[in-house]
Amino acid sequence: MYVLGIETSCDETAVAIFHSNKGLVHHLLYSQIDMHSEYGGVVPELASRDHIRKLIPLVKQLLQESGLVNADLGGIAYTAGPGLMGALLVGAATARSMAWALQIPAVAVHHMEGHLLAPMLEDKPPQFPFLALLISGGHTLLVHVNGIGQYKLLGESLDDAVGEAFDKTAKMLGLGYPGGPKLSALAELGTEKIRFPRPMTDRPGLDFSFSGLKTFAMNTINASPKTEQDKADIAASFQAAIADTLSIKCRRALRQTGLNRLVVAGGVSANTQIRAALTLMAAGENADIFFPRAQFCTDNGAMIAYAGCQRLIAGQIIEGQAITARPRWP
Ligand code: KG4
Ligand code: ZN
Repeated sequence: MYVLGIETSCDETAVAIFHSNKGLVHHLLYSQIDMHSEYGGVVPELASRDHIRKLIPLVKQLLQESGLVNADLGGIAYTAGPGLMGALLVGAATARSMAWALQIPAVAVHHMEGHLLAPMLEDKPPQFPFLALLISGGHTLLVHVNGIGQYKLLGESLDDAVGEAFDKTAKMLGLGYPGGPKLSALAELGTEKIRFPRPMTDRPGLDFSFSGLKTFAMNTINASPKTEQDKADIAASFQAAIADTLSIKCRRALRQTGLNRLVVAGGVSANTQIRAALTLMAAGENADIFFPRAQFCTDNGAMIAYAGCQRLIAGQIIEGQAITARPRWP
């Protein structure tokens, strides 16, 4: 069965085809980053309008380059939330309409389930059960995963998501949007000269808090005029604190659950220092660690096609014919 995946929750129009036996067939992505960067962040109305312009041509191109036609599709998966309402509605309306016309099922996929399952697209996918650390622009979640659709939330951020903290701190350092990769590149030129806090690591529990790091960065930046080297050192110190905090919490979660597999996914999992820190920690715990390839860490259609295909196979279709988008979806 060929499943088309559609992702339009934020600023990427992304599509992919996953086949239940053959695996990932093809994927395409159109990024709106250039359009939004001039405003220093995503402008929701512009995002929706651009998805409308790009989505159907991208689906046509995807099918053509895959050597497939509409009638080959057995299902259509789309990101139904969480994300920007207008942006989600473009994907939802397109997916539901196509599915209705083709008389095939449409599957509403939770964006974070897509991220969670992205490492399944790699050559050596993790087996269930595993611990998942999901670090993106909107979420920081620790999840006990027993199988498709069997997720137990162990911890989450009580305020900013990790990616959000990266983006806001990058803005304070005068770096453009999206700040995460830019801050990370700047950190390469610096060293950890300032000791940032490791929030919520000195008390039990698996929740996170990252807004304090952002405030700490702001106070450090404002304390005195900064040279380019100072800024690089602040970036390196901030990033080290995040990497350390995530490692401490994942180690604690591995020990508490007794799990020996760790999946790390979501946009921030593209960060090389965070990957290195978590890999080192996992080795110390005798746990195997799994990441998506870099281009599937950030938003993409492949993870949605995969998640939708698995849900179809498992008979876990969440809803009926209504076109629904859920900007907030726990
Ligand atoms: O998963 P994603 O593409 O979208 C959401 O679901 O939010 O994640 C985007 C987030 C942004 O905050 C971006 O700055 C961050 O991931 N990000 C990074 C890196 N690449 C993307 N943060 C730190 N280092 C990176 N290399
Ligand atoms: Zn995402």
